[in-house]
Amino acid sequence: MDSFLIRGGKRLHGEVSISGAKNAALPILCASLLTAEPVKVSNVPRLKDINTCLRLLGSMGVQCFWHGENELALRAEDISEPIASYDLVKTMRASILVLGPLLARFGEASVSLPGGCAIGQRPVDQHIKGLQAMGAEIVIEKGYIHAKAKRLKGARIVTDMVTVTGTENLMMAACLAEGTTIIENAAREPEVVDLARMLVKMGAKIQGIGTDTLTIEGVEKLGGCSYTVMPDRIEAGTFLCAVAACGGDIVLTNSDAASMDSTLDKLRHTGLNIEIYGSTIKASMNTRPKAVDARTAPYPGFATDMQAQLMAVNCVADGTSVMNETIFENRFMHVQEMIRLGADITIEGHTAVVKGKPLMEGATVMATDLRASAGLVISGMVANDETRIDRIYHLDRGYEKMEEKLRKLGADVQRVAE
Ligand code: EPU
Repeated sequence: MDSFLIRGGKRLHGEVSISGAKNAALPILCASLLTAEPVKVSNVPRLKDINTCLRLLGSMGVQCFWHGENELALRAEDISEPIASYDLVKTMRASILVLGPLLARFGEASVSLPGGCAIGQRPVDQHIKGLQAMGAEIVIEKGYIHAKAKRLKGARIVTDMVTVTGTENLMMAACLAEGTTIIENAAREPEVVDLARMLVKMGAKIQGIGTDTLTIEGVEKLGGCSYTVMPDRIEAGTFLCAVAACGGDIVLTNSDAASMDSTLDKLRHTGLNIEIYGSTIKASMNTRPKAVDARTAPYPGFATDMQAQLMAVNCVADGTSVMNETIFENRFMHVQEMIRLGADITIEGHTAVVKGKPLMEGATVMATDLRASAGLVISGMVANDETRIDRIYHLDRGYEKMEEKLRKLGADVQRVAE
């Protein structure tokens, strides 16, 4: 298991290119199951979660080939087994995204229940409820969801809460259902929009893309397509939090500022100067950041995936901030680790009160999940002495070449094997 060794105190300066979005690429790769024709996907980040997804698709008989650094060719002509095993699903919950496409195209699917998760319970009841409304017969047995349906039927589905992968699964299933499906309370996250655009390129009939009501008229068949994954708004936001905390000036190319309104708004309040030129974001910080309150919410609210990184900024900010986590019940795992780095944070329920200090103190800490790791990396970059972050494999799930990119910006970050 690798660790990061960080020597803090460096101002950031330089340019990095933002990778394709993990959370858009994963459902897009799973959408290849909806057609027998070839699908080409560009701007796919090289990440552990993407490899897990390719192993999952490969285990079912999907042909997956890399063409060059970030382009994938996929073909789901024949599926040997419409099964997602526990071994793969337990390492990546997004594996549940094969359920809708498999059921819609092949009439059956067996997908392991994901089990426990570090950031919250994360049940998949809404995925199941929606597919049942479309006529699927679902039995849960020995830890697996077994689903069957001759052909799914269009239905009106109102999800109990906004769910990103739930919306994606149901939208993919509805594309091949008979009749019209209406998904109310649909997630509006840019990654859901990206998937919808890809499905439309495959021949799907979807209206209301980007709104909370999706109307999908099922078609008999979908075809192949070429699609380019959107830039990762969370990766871009993480680099912006890093420069807000460390100071300096950075340039992010291949980014999508339009999908980052709430993050940019929070960071402007910290004093970060942000300029946008097409797909380039320039950001500079010459003072200590100012504390900013935040409450996570579904898009277009402030993303839960940015909470730990903004907290790292607040830890060294001038003033006290209140941060509320409303999406996941256990997404403050980084707090105890940030306290080990000298942060002054108190938690009550889903609220963290962060009293900013001028500097963090280097120590050894442990990464607990993907975004928590990113928050700890930023904290290490504003700590005196050396910080060691163990279990950095969490970071490798979702950030492409993180240490290389940070080094390009002048940070002193080394990867060491344990
Ligand atoms: N929920 C249910 N039942 C369901 C589905 C969701 O109770 O059937 C609850 C969840 O427990 C949670 C809330 O609804 O409290 C929202 O969960 P959602 O389903 O939206 O989360 P997700 O689809 O499992 C995706 C991202 C996460 C991101 C969340 C929220 C992917 C692959 N994952 O998860 O990304 O935090 O949406 O925006 O898209 C990450 O990248 O680090 C990450 C965790």
